[in-house]
Amino acid sequence: MNEGKSRNIVLIGFMGCGKSTVGIRLSWKHKMPVVDTDKLIEQNAGMRISEIFETKGEGAFRDMETDTLQKLSKQRVTRIISTGGGTPVREENRQLLKECGTVVYLRISPECVYERLKDDTVRPLLQCENPLAKIRELMAGRREAYESCAHIIVDVDGLTMEQVLEQIERQVKDYETFGD
Ligand code: S3P
Repeated sequence: MNEGKSRNIVLIGFMGCGKSTVGIRLSWKHKMPVVDTDKLIEQNAGMRISEIFETKGEGAFRDMETDTLQKLSKQRVTRIISTGGGTPVREENRQLLKECGTVVYLRISPECVYERLKDDTVRPLLQCENPLAKIRELMAGRREAYESCAHIIVDVDGLTMEQVLEQIERQVKDYETFGD
């Protein structure tokens, strides 16, 4: 993305903001490998996230997230890392995310998440009576966590995938040139 100085790109944001798809598109475009922490967790555990929540509980899943980030932060590979929507909630994870690379927060509104995920059946936290209320509540509780560990914020509501990619590329380039 910025020849010679490139670092990992770490994608964070609420469920449905597009982290996984953006990760794959950036990977194709910039010929960088991509890893998805949810997929790594599923591979290591040998089960789907919904099963982990069901059989081991959310706490065990959160420990797996931290463990995965710890491993990734130690690996010296330049790549794209997409994360789970709740990853930045733990303070320890926020630190690890920043150690992993340039943290890009894909910010989305609750209404837009709801539109995208209203028929979702795989995200355990949204299998409830009133998903929109749950999205609003979770997002309100997480906003500060997302913003405090982001080096870059892209507001994705109303943007096409191409526009999201362009914004990320432009802001990452500026950050790597002028950022701290
Ligand atoms: C979660 C988001 C999910 C997944 C798990 C918990 C969350 O990832 O990690 O279901 O707490 O927001 P996506 O953001 O990729 O949906």
